[in-house]
Parts: sequence; structure tokens; C-alpha cells
Amino acid sequence: MAVSKSIKITVDNRLRHIAFIMDGNGRWAKKRNMPREYGHKKGAQVFHDLCEYCNEIGIKYMTVYAFSTENWKRPKTEVDAIMRLLEEYLDRELPDNVKIRVIGDVNALPEKLIKKIRDVEERSKNNESVVNIAINYGSRAEITTAFNKLLAEGRKNVTEADINAALYTGDCPDPDLIVRTGGDLRISNFLLWQAAYSELYFTDTLWPDMTPEKVDAAIADFYSRKRRFGGLDKNEKKD
Ligand code: FPP
Repeated sequence: MAVSKSIKITVDNRLRHIAFIMDGNGRWAKKRNMPREYGHKKGAQVFHDLCEYCNEIGIKYMTVYAFSTENWKRPKTEVDAIMRLLEEYLDRELPDNVKIRVIGDVNALPEKLIKKIRDVEERSKNNESVVNIAINYGSRAEITTAFNKLLAEGRKNVTEADINAALYTGDCPDPDLIVRTGGDLRISNFLLWQAAYSELYFTDTLWPDMTPEKVDAAIADFYSRKRRFGGLDKNEKKD
């Protein structure tokens, strides 16, 4: 069992899956009088480092929100820069000991990026810890796609387990903890189905300023919470 660095918390199977909404790259760059793309570049490095850190402390599943279905509304120069960055990272900048998977509507991405995604998924498929990178991802679109998949199979009735299995994250446990950086208090169409009982952690820290110590703070907060999943604590049941 692994132990987080700065606070010595043992990560156990209560925290199998951590998800990040990586917000604040643009503001981080602006504070330095730099273009937004500079913030995304630093954000990608931080993603790389935290990916390694989460793996090192024993977190088996990590999911990050890299590009939403709504992010196409940004100026073309910014969208192009993010796509280039993703290509670069998928090509050679990712930790080599994690299983990389891209979730989202991959077919709408540039050809070159699609190829890099297929390559990295193939190359990393035998690693144990999973890192899902959400690109051109929206949770409502994911759920709609799942329903259409089930309808195409001729289903007349579906169970929660069927829907779960038809999602991009079908073989992952639900996220135990969702961390959003950048100060906003919302979920922004991320893992809506999967987040039913996730613990939410919001921090004002901008994504490029995230560090292992700040992840540890989120983990410590997670372990201080009581998760009842709609039930009662053991002690409460005795009353
Ligand atoms: C949100 O910050 C961030 C994004 C829309 C892009 C996130 C992309 C990366 C961190 C690069 C990912 C790279 C890999 C390899 C996964 P924002 O631009 O909305 O910031 P703001 O709220 O300050 O404007």
C-alpha cells in the first residue's frame, strides 16, 4: 500500500479513482502577461507530473478533463494550440507506466491526433493504472451515446448496470474524489452519471500551480469525510 508524500496518508481502496477538472490555465498565463497557450503548456507539464504522482501513491484510476465539447467555441488559435499540445504529449511526454485511454468523441478530432491516440492506447494497454484523458468530452453527449448504443442493440429495457457499462468509463469504478481547480464551483458537464456519490473538492489554486502537496491536501480532506452512499454510519444503525 502506498503513502502520500507530504501528509503520510495511506491511499487504500476507498480512493481508487480521482478525477481532475484542470481549470485556470488561461488566468495563470494572463497573470504573467503571457498568451493563454503558455498556461496550457504549463498545465500539460503539471498533468504529467501529477499523473506520475498519483500512480506512485497507489491511485489506480485517474481521469482528467482536457477538452470539452464546449471548448470548440474558443478562438481557433487557442483550440489549435491545445490540439498540438495534446499531440505532443500523447506522442512522447506521458509517463510510460500507466494505461492511457482517451474518452470522448475522438472521431471529431484532427486525423493526426486520432492516430496518436490509437498509438498511445495500444502502446500502454498492458500497464495497470489507468489514466483517462477526456478530449472532446461532454457528459450529456456520453450518456446520449450510451443510450443510442443500447438502443442499437435492440434493448427495450435497461438497468443502471447496462448504462454504466455503455459509458466511456464502463470498466472503471466511479470517481471517489473529483477535484476542480481554478475557483469555480461547478461540474461543467463532467462525469455527471459517474459522480452520483463522488466527493467534490474545490480549490482556488490555478491548475498550473497544482503540486503533489496540494493533491495531498485534497486527499486528506477526502479521508476526513464520511461517505454513507445514502445509508447510515455503522454507529447510527445501532440507535
Ligand atoms: C481550462 O483552463 C483548461 C483547458 C480548457 C485545457 C486543459 C488542457 C491542458 C491542461 C493540457 C492537457 C494536456 C494533456 C496532455 C492532458 P482555462 O483555459 O479555462 O483557464 P481559465 O479559466 O483561466 O481561462
